[in-house]
Amino acid sequence: MTKIAAVIVASNARDAERDARAALSGGADLAELRLDQLDSLNSSVVRSLSAAVGPRAIATLRSPSQGGGASMTNRNDLMRDIAAQRFAYIDIELEADGARAEELTKAAKRHRTGVIASHHFAKPADLSDVQDALESCSAIGDVAKVAVPVATIESVIQLVDLMRSRASRKARTVVIGTGIPGTMTRALADDCGQEIQYASWGRSVVAGQLTLAAAKRLRGRTPIVLGIVGHPIGHSLSPAIHEAALAALDLPGVYLPFDVERDSLDALLQSADRLRIRGLNVTIPHKESIVERLDELDGDAERLGAVNTVLIGDGWTKGHNTDVFGFRLSLRSLGLRVGDRAALVVGAGGAARAVVDVLLREGAKVQVASRNVKRSESLAEAFDQPVEVVPMEKLARSGPWDLLVNATPVGAQGFSDGLPVPESILAKAGFVYDLVYNPPTTRLVAEAKRLGKPTTSGLEMLLHQAAKSFELWTGRAPPIEAMRRAAKEALS
Ligand SMILES: NC(=O)c1ccc[n+]([C@@H]2O[C@H](COP(=O)([O-])OP(=O)(O)OC[C@H]3O[C@@H](n4cnc5c(N)ncnc54)[C@H](OP(=O)(O)O)[C@@H]3O)[C@@H](O)[C@H]2O)c1
Repeated sequence: MTKIAAVIVASNARDAERDARAALSGGADLAELRLDQLDSLNSSVVRSLSAAVGPRAIATLRSPSQGGGASMTNRNDLMRDIAAQRFAYIDIELEADGARAEELTKAAKRHRTGVIASHHFAKPADLSDVQDALESCSAIGDVAKVAVPVATIESVIQLVDLMRSRASRKARTVVIGTGIPGTMTRALADDCGQEIQYASWGRSVVAGQLTLAAAKRLRGRTPIVLGIVGHPIGHSLSPAIHEAALAALDLPGVYLPFDVERDSLDALLQSADRLRIRGLNVTIPHKESIVERLDELDGDAERLGAVNTVLIGDGWTKGHNTDVFGFRLSLRSLGLRVGDRAALVVGAGGAARAVVDVLLREGAKVQVASRNVKRSESLAEAFDQPVEVVPMEKLARSGPWDLLVNATPVGAQGFSDGLPVPESILAKAGFVYDLVYNPPTTRLVAEAKRLGKPTTSGLEMLLHQAAKSFELWTGRAPPIEAMRRAAKEALS
């Protein structure tokens, strides 16, 4: 089984020892002491750390050229000091320590210290270079460790295949894709027979590193990889919500952001089994283009021609649209009755379709206005029941409405903070529902409140659609309160 090493980053030896002991009693198998991060390091500090936690510690003195701490004039001497003490492992770098590797390895062996030979690429590298680095590391150490930044899903897939092929040869290996896209290599560490999983303790050192708690949940269990696919992903709340749900139910899962352009969508779907991906959320701009790539659609996704959730089985994919469920349930939880009432939906994209679908089924009279009349018309044509298309400039002569729904990104973080409709139109609305949830109070919601109108943000819908997706992927009742808490925390 993969050993979990909690990465200990502290500025003094006392804190390093305290944190290492805490991580070990908190379930880590090893503590990686990042000795290069200590303010002052000398042979007596090395001796005392070895005496305190050495048999369960990896001693790492990362050189500055490999992403280590402040430059050390006496790094060679310190490495000799470390090799002369008992640790579970010493980390020897291919470049900085290559010339002294034999001497260091011999000294380490005398103290029954294992040797991790490592190389950290500063930039994304060709697979053949990664393989070469691993072979060179294997020639020096008991464990070969290579970390390389990854930016694309294709390079993640290559690394995962490499991890599996090394494990099948019983080569003791750690391959890490660094950066957020590389989180997949960490999530699959155990599944791919990696020797060590480096997990964060307290302050994370490297983007994409799993927390000790997440690494423990995954250890020895088949991983459930979930995620959101879109481009750009931006500041989605979904990772926080789903990670909280996985943790609350102690499931061996991770929820990853897949920032994937249209050209790479097929590569992701085709590799889903190899990557242990069981479910995906789909967001802008793939909600519609993913439809034709799936084996099956549920009723809502088929009717709307848009998918926000993909369920992945053995070589088989099914698309769902849980936005429909989310909006319907949010109306219930808000106590909003829309049957026979007049509703104006602003926007004509995927979310607007889900909203219109629910409103029509509940018996509302629906008007749609968007900046693109053709898109509004094609939305209206998708439904059997009548949907009236109103050009934006003619809204002044329409209304009033019992319900106004903003289904545009206007007001969302990163978009314009304007109003999706002029204030004079807002004045003719009863309840104002903004699908935007970040920020929690958009200008639309603030203006509506000022006019004395009841309002809601899109948070309830977001939570209910997320809960439904989670249930589809895991077959478990979603822990909605934990999910709500995580969303609110992420928004605060
Ligand atoms: N709360 C939830 O659970 C939930 C669920 C789904 C979506 N949403 C939110 O709903 C919003 C729409 O999502 P979507 O998936 O429907 O997106 P979409 O498919 O891209 O559609 C966006 C709609 O808004 C219009 N629009 C975009 N920018 C605009 C602007 N600056 N001014 C006026 N209109 C603009 C678009 O018009 P064009 O066609 O002319 O571009 C289109 O009609 C997003 O903010 C999303 O985060 C929330």
